[in-house]
Amino acid sequence: MIGQRMREAMNEQIMHETFSAYLYVSMSAYFHSMGLDGMAQWMKAQAQEELGHALRFYNHINERGGRIELLAIEKPEKEWDAPLAAFEAALKHEEFISGRINDLAKIADEENDRAAGIMLQWFVTEQVEEEDSVTKVIDMLKLVGKDGPALLLADRELGQRMAAPFPPTYEFGGEEAA
Ligand code: FEO
Repeated sequence: MIGQRMREAMNEQIMHETFSAYLYVSMSAYFHSMGLDGMAQWMKAQAQEELGHALRFYNHINERGGRIELLAIEKPEKEWDAPLAAFEAALKHEEFISGRINDLAKIADEENDRAAGIMLQWFVTEQVEEEDSVTKVIDMLKLVGKDGPALLLADRELGQRMAAPFPPTYEFGGEEAA
């Protein structure tokens, strides 16, 4: 049975992960409005992964006899100054999420909740990857600068990103089920 403190913290994390999806869908719409369909696709794939993250927490609470409680989600930003600014905002958001995962891991330690600790290990690794993938896009866009044709090439490359399978099914511990 999941403890009250961890259940409440994970319910809150479902909200943060779902907001992440909402934010990235908003960024996708922003890129579509600029005719940058590749970047829009990149953000849609990211949004889909975020919903998968929310479901991992959902499944963990549920498997341990806890009640899921969905919290209110705030309205995301709609406009950014430039594609680079949008990806920089995405990185800032991912750093915030990494902080939240670390907070959850700390609660797991303090509550001696080994099950949550094992489950959260997947997220610790995932956040390193998430920050790295956004940083790589930022580096690319800095190189591109104000070069229009280079921006279109970058857009085409980013549009190659495929979404992870959805909806995900996971076994306890965070591994994908066969
Ligand atoms: Fe689920 Fe991008 O953090």
